[in-house]
Amino acid sequence: MSTLTLSLLPETYVELPERELDERIAQAKRELGSRLVILGHHYQRDEVIKFADYRGDSLKLSQLAASRPEAEYIVFCGVHFMAESADILSADHQIVILPDLNAGCSMADMANLEQVEVCWEELTSVCGEGIVPVTYVNSTAAIKAFVGRHGGAVCTSSNAGKVMEWALAHAERALFLPDEHLGRNTGYRLGIPLERMALWNPREEAGGLSEEAILQARIFLWKGHCSVHQRFLPEHVERVRRNYPGIHVIAHPECSWEVCQRADEVGSTELIIKRIVESPPGSQWAVGTEIHLVNRLAKEYPDRLVVTLDDCVCMCSTMYRISPQHLCWTLENLVGGQVVNRVSVDPETKRWARVALEQMLGIGKAVES
Ligand code: 13P
Ligand code: SF4
Repeated sequence: MSTLTLSLLPETYVELPERELDERIAQAKRELGSRLVILGHHYQRDEVIKFADYRGDSLKLSQLAASRPEAEYIVFCGVHFMAESADILSADHQIVILPDLNAGCSMADMANLEQVEVCWEELTSVCGEGIVPVTYVNSTAAIKAFVGRHGGAVCTSSNAGKVMEWALAHAERALFLPDEHLGRNTGYRLGIPLERMALWNPREEAGGLSEEAILQARIFLWKGHCSVHQRFLPEHVERVRRNYPGIHVIAHPECSWEVCQRADEVGSTELIIKRIVESPPGSQWAVGTEIHLVNRLAKEYPDRLVVTLDDCVCMCSTMYRISPQHLCWTLENLVGGQVVNRVSVDPETKRWARVALEQMLGIGKAVES
């Protein structure tokens, strides 16, 4: 659980012209100097990410948060679970700020502690203690702490393969939270057949699973998803291949198994960027991930064709809540000695969530899966 004292953006910031906003953000950054570090996730809009000292996927940003103890303030341009991870991994004297506390993640909200405890009790009562919990970083601090307390690890889309492999080497079974698609895509890549992955639905009695289905499974997938990535469909892959013969399809592993099976490559935002950056001029890419990243890549590499896998604007509306107005207001408050929209995880949750995050950092070491 983290402390939330939501402060709302004052009216005076709403109408500020873009140029003035830019100047004021740059000025506040100068005044704060090395006391401040701004982290920006790849899905942030251009007007915000241009002010980030570091850009990255969830893994890279978690590591950066842990490696900058000199910065008094970490302003996280991303969503709530990312700011929580930064608070968990950073030193006690550091303050983490999410410019708009309403920037949540619908996937992270699909697993709450009570539901996960019920699931754990049910699964362990049927198949004993041989289960390791793994949670995607897109989860609340409370879920990460649960995983830490039960000997498991966090993973990101970059290292899910490594972490799942580690879990299955330590126990007969793994419980993967809260994204069924990342869990299924990762398990399948490790050679676990679909019929040995059981879907736990927290809204159904006993997760909707029979005892037999529980005993059959090697991986339990939590029924959660990303509403942005699940909009990509197999027919979009087929259509883009018809429209652009020879195009290379690359999808984020939060997309469904059916989409990932049809893609040429599957990977985190960091991997998607790397592939396009390293590709020769003239190459063609259809990308199954959030639209701000796809549009930025298309703009930055005009000698390559970069299109979205689906034209129906797959935008993460919560990432979009971080506006230049919120960033400006947050920074100007810091200059004036005021902290607004701090994300602070309580010490007990922090302790166990850190165990799970550090387990991941130990296993993954930033290797792309
Ligand atoms: P990455 O870790 O690939 O940046 O993904 C984070 C995320 O929220 C994707 O929806
Ligand atoms: Fe969450 Fe999906 Fe947005 Fe990523 S894109 S932050 S998983 S809602």
